[in-house]
Amino acid sequence: MNEYLKFYEKYKISPVTPNINNFKEHVKKRANLYRELSILPITIKDRDILEIGPAGGYNALATYTFNPKSYTLIEPNSTGYTELTKNFENIMCKKNIFIYNIAFENFNPNRKYDIIICEGLIPGLENKDVFINKILNLLNEDGIIVITAIDQIAVLFEIIRKYIANCLTKNIEDIDEKVELLIKVFESHLRTLKGMTRKHRDWCLDNLIGDAIFEHTLTIDHVIDLLQDNFYFLGSSPGIFTNFTWYKELPTNALEYNNIFKEQFFLQWHNFIDYRYIQPKRTIDQNTELGKYCLDLIIAIKNNIPKKSIINILLKIKENLLSGGNHITVKSIEEIIHLLHKKINYENINKLSYFQSAFGRGQSYISFTKRCTHDE
Ligand SMILES: C[S@@+](CC[C@H](N)C(=O)[O-])C[C@H]1O[C@@H](n2cnc3c(N)ncnc32)[C@H](O)[C@@H]1O
Repeated sequence: MNEYLKFYEKYKISPVTPNINNFKEHVKKRANLYRELSILPITIKDRDILEIGPAGGYNALATYTFNPKSYTLIEPNSTGYTELTKNFENIMCKKNIFIYNIAFENFNPNRKYDIIICEGLIPGLENKDVFINKILNLLNEDGIIVITAIDQIAVLFEIIRKYIANCLTKNIEDIDEKVELLIKVFESHLRTLKGMTRKHRDWCLDNLIGDAIFEHTLTIDHVIDLLQDNFYFLGSSPGIFTNFTWYKELPTNALEYNNIFKEQFFLQWHNFIDYRYIQPKRTIDQNTELGKYCLDLIIAIKNNIPKKSIINILLKIKENLLSGGNHITVKSIEEIIHLLHKKINYENINKLSYFQSAFGRGQSYISFTKRCTHDE
């Protein structure tokens, strides 16, 4: 059982209940996301859709408004599954909805799908590559996959909050008590995220109490490598990729085509660290070094390495970022280093004015389309 399922089943929770009181607005936001991924409502209409790990199905309800031919949903967590079936209960025409209460690893249909969506799940798994390959095998030719990636740079500030949260709650057994304390400590941070629809309680449970965040090391370039020459890059949100190549000069070989996006990812990777700013491109070496230090930090925090080593890694990250001229991000990291030298308590955390609004870009959505036989 993966970290999500262990945690969700232990406490009988499904901490993914966004506020969708304004459902029309929710659908428009989802349509914006899909457009960034080069998926329009007509791409979904009359297609067979598979969604893996939809939790209570709040996003799936929006996707369903685009009239797919069929919609198959796989949700193993019992609380999420109950919510999901309840949410889809009132839909008039249910003939084309299939909901399974099993883990995707145990789902073996004798058919394929046109579009497969797997959001907010793969980065938290240990067996990411096996899981992705299973998805790829269930996709029709010309079909589209939508997955999310979160890596060590994009999750840096959240990992630091997880470290602080662990220090603050290590002597508290009761999960409700833990979450109440963390909401109090980090509410002012979360309030700076204007577009956030996720409940603060859900966010604290998933990111600060659950351990799946330690697995958040899935980089976009790794996904591109896994797909080899069987898929073409289609879109991303945030849309970090620009490509000025004249279409007649674009490589027609999928591997070379995808390499354009892979290279751009490395040049832009530092821009995932802090959603407040966009910095000029940097060298691949600088960003690879930053990626290494951020990964070291995740491993150190996961393994309860002494505070002194954590400070040393943060100093290396700060040094690396100084060459990019990203002063507010650097100031945020300096504040954390300063905090770690003092007592980690509510009062001291509340004094960190730069860190308060420092969040990484979190998860990125990426879409790919499967090469079809007439491409060969
Ligand atoms: C962080 S939640 C994301 C929920 C939703 N997709 C979203 O983005 O709002 C991860 C979801 O994946 C589900 N999940 C975990 N392991 C799974 C597996 N092996 N197969 C299918 N779903 C899984 C969890 O139960 C949970 O609902």
